[in-house]
Amino acid sequence: MSSRIYNFGAGPAMLPTEVMIKAQQEFLDYKGMGASVMEISHRSKDFDAIVDRCDELIRELSGLPDNYKILYVHGGARMQFSAMPMNLLGRSAKRKSLYFETGNFAKLARKEAERYGEVEIVANGEATNFDRIPDVSGIEFDQQAAYAHLTSNNTIYGTRWNEYPDTGEVPLIADMTSDIFSREVDYSQFGAVYAGFQKNLGPSGVALVLMREDLIGNAMPETPTLLDYKVYADNHSMANTINTFAIYMLMLVLEWKKEQGGIVALQKRNEEKAQILYRLIDGSDFYLGAAQPESRSVMNVTFNLANTELAGKFLEEALQNDLYALKGHRAVGGIRASIYNAMPVAGVEALASFMQEFERSNG
Ligand SMILES: Cc1ncc(COP(=O)(O)O)c(C=O)c1O
Repeated sequence: MSSRIYNFGAGPAMLPTEVMIKAQQEFLDYKGMGASVMEISHRSKDFDAIVDRCDELIRELSGLPDNYKILYVHGGARMQFSAMPMNLLGRSAKRKSLYFETGNFAKLARKEAERYGEVEIVANGEATNFDRIPDVSGIEFDQQAAYAHLTSNNTIYGTRWNEYPDTGEVPLIADMTSDIFSREVDYSQFGAVYAGFQKNLGPSGVALVLMREDLIGNAMPETPTLLDYKVYADNHSMANTINTFAIYMLMLVLEWKKEQGGIVALQKRNEEKAQILYRLIDGSDFYLGAAQPESRSVMNVTFNLANTELAGKFLEEALQNDLYALKGHRAVGGIRASIYNAMPVAGVEALASFMQEFERSNG
């Protein structure tokens, strides 16, 4: 494995090495079939067993209540920006939704909803360049709205919700693309959550949707068949040909999460990893954290160099040290270390050592 680097990319992100090795071993010959998992029918019993195992592991790991469906939906997370309004707006006579605008993806989700109905932005972090989750206490949520939408972890800005707002009778929908299964969550707080696979679940292009059963089946009549969650629920996500390889990889990633001790153990490790970096940043004048401490993400650590002119040199030398894809998003600049479940503590320690050394040589 000497040729593997530590990949801090925001997504598609690194997958556990054990998972990659297993996929490689099974690639040409899945379970003695003499064919790759990519070459067998999505309707075969062998593939059925993979989907069933994914369902089973998701329920076991997440504690998802029984009245929630597990759906595997085409198009990654942003396709759900369209699918959610199309599936949920029919519940409200006003065709109205509420959006918490806490970052770039939250904004894109809100813009998509505006194509289908009235949107009220109930909180907006733009004034402080999304460096924190806005205070939402005291907001009166319009109880006539069909749903409220938030982004649980803001991948670009490195912020996250620590506590979710109580929206009363209005179902709360969360885009959990960048922190799904990284921490314990009480899913009964949500009408639905969704996540693109490419950070904590597997390869890109597919989204996991966990949705309360009673919210399924109200899609607007013009909803394309393959964006109607009822079609997914009624066909075990197999109305047409699913991305079979991504589902297979999801199964391996979920098995790995279980072997690691489940979400509780992963959460503990994730917090330790993030603390290594935040402690270093807080103890130095050379590095400046981008997010306000109370809103800091455990998955995406964003920071700048006090002397911004050194950022290019930092990235170049990091790469020479096998620390890959640390460039911050252009909206924030600086550095972003994405440290999802698959990033080992050793990778974060390697980054921390590099940062200390870089500060010594350039501070
Ligand atoms: C929070 C969040 N939502 C949505 C997306 C977009 O995901 P996709 O490319 O699968 O549409 C991303 C991508 O990184 C993200 O971080």
